[in-house]
Amino acid sequence: MIFERVVRPMLFRVGGGDAEAAHEFALRRLAGLSRMPAALAAVRARYAVRAPRTVFGVRFPNPVGLAAGMDKDGVALPAWPALGFGFVEVGTVTARPQPGNDRPRLFRLRDSEAVVNGMGFNNAGAEALAARLAALPRPIGVPLGISLGKSKVTPLAEAVEDYRASYRVLRAHGDYFAVNVSSPNTPGLRSLQDRTHLDALLAALVGEKPVLVKIAPDLTEPAIAELLEVCLARGAAGVIATNTTLARDGLAPVDQARGALTGGMSGRPLAARAREVVAFVHRETGGRLPIVGVGGIVDPDDAARMMDAGASLVQLFTGFIYRGPALVRAAARTAAAAPGKVPSR
Ligand code: FNR
Repeated sequence: MIFERVVRPMLFRVGGGDAEAAHEFALRRLAGLSRMPAALAAVRARYAVRAPRTVFGVRFPNPVGLAAGMDKDGVALPAWPALGFGFVEVGTVTARPQPGNDRPRLFRLRDSEAVVNGMGFNNAGAEALAARLAALPRPIGVPLGISLGKSKVTPLAEAVEDYRASYRVLRAHGDYFAVNVSSPNTPGLRSLQDRTHLDALLAALVGEKPVLVKIAPDLTEPAIAELLEVCLARGAAGVIATNTTLARDGLAPVDQARGALTGGMSGRPLAARAREVVAFVHRETGGRLPIVGVGGIVDPDDAARMMDAGASLVQLFTGFIYRGPALVRAAARTAAAAPGKVPSR
C-alpha cells in the first residue's frame, strides 16, 4: 500500500499537520496530473473500474462517486475518473464567490477515521466554475454533478433566487444538480429542508436536468418523510444521503476532546447513521426515488452495505483521505457486486 505507507504520511505532515494545507497541496498535485495525458492514462490503467449502470437516466461507468466538497471549484476534474471514480460532484458552489469561515476549519480525527469541517462553502462562485468547465479541452468521461448552495450574504428569504442564479449559469455543464440544503456550516441553511422552503426551491429548479436533494443525517424520520413527499411531488430525480453530522457519536477515546470542534463530522463514525437514513428513504418511498448513499464509506464492505441499504450509487470523501485511490477501486468492485435493493440496469 504505497498510499498508506508513503503518500498519506507525507500529506499528513504538510503545513505542520494542518489538514487544509494538505488538502490544497493534494489538489494542486492532482490539478497538475490533470494536465499530463500520459500520466493520467497510466493512473487510469491502474484504478479505473467498469461496472456500468443507468440511474435517473444518466449512464455511470461505475457506482462510486466523489462526494461534494473535495474539488469545489473543479480544478482537478480529469484526475478523479483516472483514480477510479465513476462520477464526480463539484461544488458546493454559490452564486457569489465567498471565502468561507475563518481558519482553521478542517480537522482530522485520525484514530476515528473521521474529519470535522466547518468550511462554510469557500468557493470561487458559479460563474468561475462555469468558465472553468467551459474551458475543459474534452469531457471528463464520467457524469458530472454540480452541487448548489446559498451564498452567505443572501438572506434565507431570497434563497430560491440565489440557487436559481447559480443553476442558470451552470445548467449546460452538469449531468445532474445537487441542491445542498444540509450543510451545517451556513447559518439557517438546513431550514431549507422544510416543506415550504424546499417546495419553492424545487419548483424553481426541477425541469431540464436531474435535480437531487442532499439531506442531513440529523433530521428526524418524520422530517425526512415530509421532505420525501415534497421530492416526489416536485419531480426530484433522487436524494443524496447524507451530509455531515452535528452528532459526535462513535469517536475513538483519544479523539473525544476534539469532538467539540465546530463543524460537521464525516467518516467512519457517520456510517451507521447514513446507512440508516438510506434504508429509511428506500422504505418510505418504496424504492421510487433513487438514492446516492454517502457517509462513512471507509472500506469496500461499507460500499456494499450502502447498496444493500437501498442506494443505487454511492459517494465518498473522508475514506479517500485515509485510504486513497485503492479504496475507490475496491469499493467500485464490491458496490457493483452487492445484491442491493435496487436492480441495476
Ligand atoms: C464536505 N461535504 C460537503 N457536502 C456538500 O454537499 N457540499 C460541500 O461543499 C461539502 N464540503 C465538504 C468539505 C469537507 C472538508 C468534508 C469532509 C465534507 C460532505 C461530503 O460531501 C459528504 O456528504 C460527507 O463528508 C460524508 O461522506 P464521507 O466523508 O463520510 O465519505
